[in-house]
Amino acid sequence: MSDIRIRDLGEDYSWGSRVEGLGWHNIHDRGVRAELAKLFEDRGFLVFEGMEPSAKMQVALSEVFGPLKEHPTAATKRADDNIAPGVIDIHTQPRGDDGHYHGLVEIDGVKLASFSPWHFDHSYNDELNRAGVLRAVIQAPERGRTGFADGVELYKAFDPELRRRIEGLNVIYTLDVRLTQMRFGRTFKTFGDLAWQMGNVEEAKTFPRAMHPAVWTRATGEKVLHAGGWMAVGIEGHEDPEGEALFEAVCQEVNAKTHAYWHVWKPTDMLIWDNWRMLHAVEGCDPKYERRMQRTTIKGDYGLGYFEDGKRPGEVYRELAPGNLPA
Ligand SMILES: [Fe+2]
Repeated sequence: MSDIRIRDLGEDYSWGSRVEGLGWHNIHDRGVRAELAKLFEDRGFLVFEGMEPSAKMQVALSEVFGPLKEHPTAATKRADDNIAPGVIDIHTQPRGDDGHYHGLVEIDGVKLASFSPWHFDHSYNDELNRAGVLRAVIQAPERGRTGFADGVELYKAFDPELRRRIEGLNVIYTLDVRLTQMRFGRTFKTFGDLAWQMGNVEEAKTFPRAMHPAVWTRATGEKVLHAGGWMAVGIEGHEDPEGEALFEAVCQEVNAKTHAYWHVWKPTDMLIWDNWRMLHAVEGCDPKYERRMQRTTIKGDYGLGYFEDGKRPGEVYRELAPGNLPA
C-alpha cells in the first residue's frame, strides 16, 4: 500500500499535483513508481514536498520518470559533484569580478537578475527532453519564483484566430540564449548579457537551427500550445514581415494567456515538469541576491523537432549578431 499523499496543485489549475511522503523508504517501490509515472503523465507537473534536500535524492527522483541524459551543450555548467549525467548548475551571481552587475533586465522600472521569459527547455535541439527536475540550492529571500503554465490549457485559452493561423507551422529556434537578442514577445529592457550567455555564443554558431511545432497533439488527443520567443528567430517558411508579425502576436498572446503557477521555493521542494507540454519562466530577483538551482534532464523525445537541412551540431558555422557587451 502506497504511503504517498497526493493532492491537486490548487483549485485554480486543471493540471499539476502535490506529492508528500516520498523518501528513501519508498522511492524504489515499484507500485509507488508506477503511480507517480501515471500521475505525471496525466497532470504534467508535480511538486514534491518534504524531500531530502540532496543531489542524490534529486537524481533518484528523476530516475523514477526515465533515464537521465547528458545536456546537449558543452558550455552549460555541470553540478560539481558529477553525481549523474547532465545534472546542471544554474548559479546566478550577476555581480562580476569587476564589481558591476551583468545581464540584468528591467520590468516595470525594476531591475532584476535571474529572469527567464516563457520557454521550454532544449528548443534549440532536435530532441526534446521528456522532463526536468529542479530544486533550489540557494534561493533569493524574495521573488526568484519559477513559473509554470500548461500548454493544453493555453491552447484552449488562446485567441481562436491566432491559433488557426499558427497551427501547422514550425517555430525556428537557435542556441543563442542572449536576452539582448530576443526579438519576439519581449516584456523587458536588457542591459548587456551574462558571462555564461556570452560564453555560449561560439557554440551557438555551430548549432543548426532547430524546428518545433507551435501546436502539437498528445497521444491522449489534447492539443498543446508550445512556443515562446526566447531563442526563436521566426517561423519556418515565413521569415518575412508577415511571418514575424504573426509570431510576435503569438508570443504576446502567450504572455497574456498563460495561467501561471508561481512556485515559492523551499529547500525541501523538488519539481518535475513535462517539457513537451509545459512552459516555464523565472520572474527574476533583486541582483544583490545569489540564486542557485540544480536541474536534471530526463531522456525522451516527442519526435517532432528536427535540425534544419538535416545537419548535426558541428556541421554548420553561422555568424551571429555581436550583441551588447556586458556593461
Ligand atoms: Fe528552462
